Amino acid sequence: MLAPTEILEKDQAHFLHPLHHPSTTQSPLIFESGHGIWLRTVEGKEYIDGMAGLWNVLIGHGNTELADAARDQIATLAYCSSYAGTSNLPAIELADRMAGMAYPSLNTTFFTSGGAESNESAFKTVRYYWKRLGKPNKTKVISRQHGYHGITLAAMSATGMSAYWPMFEPRVPGFLHIPAPYAFRYPADQIRPGESLGQAAARALEEAILREGQDTVGAFIAEPVQGAGGLIVPPDDYFPAIREICDRYEVLFIADEVITGFGRTGEWFALNRWGVEPDIMSFAKGITSGYLPLGGIQVSDKIREVIVNAPANERWMHAYTYSGHPTCCAVANKNLEILQRLDVAENARVQGQRLLEGLQALEAEFDVIGDTRGIGLMAAIEFADRETKQPAQIGEKVRKACLERGLFTRIIGSDILSLAPPLVISAEEIDLVLQIIGEALAETTR
Ligand SMILES: Cc1ncc(COP(=O)(O)O)c(C=O)c1O
Repeated sequence: MLAPTEILEKDQAHFLHPLHHPSTTQSPLIFESGHGIWLRTVEGKEYIDGMAGLWNVLIGHGNTELADAARDQIATLAYCSSYAGTSNLPAIELADRMAGMAYPSLNTTFFTSGGAESNESAFKTVRYYWKRLGKPNKTKVISRQHGYHGITLAAMSATGMSAYWPMFEPRVPGFLHIPAPYAFRYPADQIRPGESLGQAAARALEEAILREGQDTVGAFIAEPVQGAGGLIVPPDDYFPAIREICDRYEVLFIADEVITGFGRTGEWFALNRWGVEPDIMSFAKGITSGYLPLGGIQVSDKIREVIVNAPANERWMHAYTYSGHPTCCAVANKNLEILQRLDVAENARVQGQRLLEGLQALEAEFDVIGDTRGIGLMAAIEFADRETKQPAQIGEKVRKACLERGLFTRIIGSDILSLAPPLVISAEEIDLVLQIIGEALAETTR
């Protein structure tokens, strides 16, 4: 076994990391093992995984049932293609298991290897659908500021976080952004008298469709709860209004449930909370609890009809080598079985409430917290002046103070501390997370 310093040297010499910059790779935490909500570094230090990996390790680390499922499938048939004319048992089982699981009209699944590939598949399916219906100009996609949809070219263009763009411009044409229903920062002058925030933010979609022309807009994409862009929980009237506008202007609604799917928000799939169904759902991450890469889209019955009734020369010519990967699907099948057995959505609801109440108590204690928000086991505190909304610029300090006390988490922008622990977290572990954040805040603001 190499010494930690030698491992670090090799990392710095040869590993180009996501969002790479040498300033952030000087002393990375090099994780070696994990169990439950805990991660352990090569130096033997343990941390609570406050972000469940990247929002994905729903089941917690070190689950040997998933390891067995992967090993069994690899020994039986690790890989085969699912291109037209071939199929495999785990992928069929998973597609069947997922039929109607999220929303009653989503019964057909295409598999990818992750979230960005899922959204690419969704955007291409939108184009395909409208072309087949004789409306080839409906290609534009409207998304939201602070939205995160992955960073392949089209997904990056849908992503509404401008920091991802400049060094990779030009973006794919036809992607535009409207304001998110961000209660803490929504400009008051953009809400009309008598209008709610949800209505105002939904009106922004209608105005964008009218401005661009209904005949040019193919889809609207949104995360039910915005994650990487700042943990933005919409008001209850937002998505029902969005659905209504999409229907009125014949715009497909893509729900990006890459983070919110499989229990994270306390619902198995987030839009159920508001009684809304999308036309396409993107998923990834939690479907395997991150143990193997897998994602996909589910399409509504009406989109499926258009695909399966196409003449051969207009077929849905979209594919990935790893669509329906047998081993990834076998792990997903086992993972979903366990998540349901453990009823992690219920745990997310109960522990999420405990987490939110604990964070609200911290807000009452520390003036530096401008806003506290959360739903299920996704939560955030935003450090800012409550009146002027001026960012406090202390996020990185608080993050480091948490890390020193054994809590690994992430800061969004300069001041949003986000939490999304594994869905198997216990009440005692939530209390430990809160205790650490409280101590970190006390130190930082002393
Ligand atoms: C909502 C959402 N969509 C898409 C993605 C992209 O997923 P991937 O990194 O697997 O491409 C992410 C990743 O964090 C995400 O949070």
